[in-house]
Amino acid sequence: MEFKYLVVETDEEGIALLRLNRPEAKNALNLELIAELGDAADMLARDEKVRAVIVTGGEGDFAAGGDIKEMSGKYAPDMLVAYGADLSGFEKIERIPKPVIAAVNGYALGGGTELALVCDMIVASETAVFGMPEITLGIIPGAGGTQRLPRLIGPNRAKEFIFSGSFYDVEACREMGLVNKVVPAADLLEEAKKLARRCIRNGAVALACAKACVNEGLNTDLYSGLAYERKCFSLLFSTEDQKEGMAAFKEKRKAEFKGR
Ligand code: CAA
Repeated sequence: MEFKYLVVETDEEGIALLRLNRPEAKNALNLELIAELGDAADMLARDEKVRAVIVTGGEGDFAAGGDIKEMSGKYAPDMLVAYGADLSGFEKIERIPKPVIAAVNGYALGGGTELALVCDMIVASETAVFGMPEITLGIIPGAGGTQRLPRLIGPNRAKEFIFSGSFYDVEACREMGLVNKVVPAADLLEEAKKLARRCIRNGAVALACAKACVNEGLNTDLYSGLAYERKCFSLLFSTEDQKEGMAAFKEKRKAEFKGR
């Protein structure tokens, strides 16, 4: 699949790199780029060779947010129709049934922080800067910031983030629990890959179930979440990977999972 604003490559380990490539605008997320994110997410979700995904801006900025120039002249009906539909690109990333890691360098602002939030884990370089400056533009975060950020770092910290529109360095973000790991810029992609490898040595079906349980659980009450978890837990006993994982434990060897 050819993209205008994305570069997608999968290595021999099955780790796909989804790199935003609009450096002239600091990877600002215009409608076309967001739609491409959705198409790439569909492709990576379906591709059996892909075991994990790293979303990144590479050595440049992660993303400086929604495209302000594209949005500036729009009115509510345009936003409700065009942006309402196209933001599903973010949700498609969130729903890839495989580990998805954001590897963040430079600015991750507004929609950039929101894109990192639809990933399962965030590895950030020492120079990364996060923030939701939408309020300084007379708007609010519109790609999940008011919903996903409080679920991750708690409502009071999220309100400070969103109400002040301030930029936060990576140490502040680590303290808040926004980022999983801070690494030197030169090591960013390798560290993200290391984390991906630690996940994908485990079975793909169990990983997909674990992701679905955490994400569904965050959207529901405890007892519905527990019931969902119990169903997934039980269903995993119909997989070859469960038989292999437990046999390997008893035989004191390393399990060889097939994702079946
Ligand atoms: N939209 C459109 N263009 C953007 C952009 C954005 N979000 N961010 C940067 N750019 C463009 C700049 O306009 C500039 O283009 P020109 O060369 O044509 O002037 C180019 O990228 C380089 O940017 P700067 O010259 O501004 O670079 P800088 O290093 O001085 O500053 C920055 C970098 C702090 C990230 C600054 O560009 C900035 O504040 N950007 C906007 C951040 C922001 O407010 N994001 C929220 C957007 S709204 C949103 O995200 C809504 C949502 O929920 C989806």
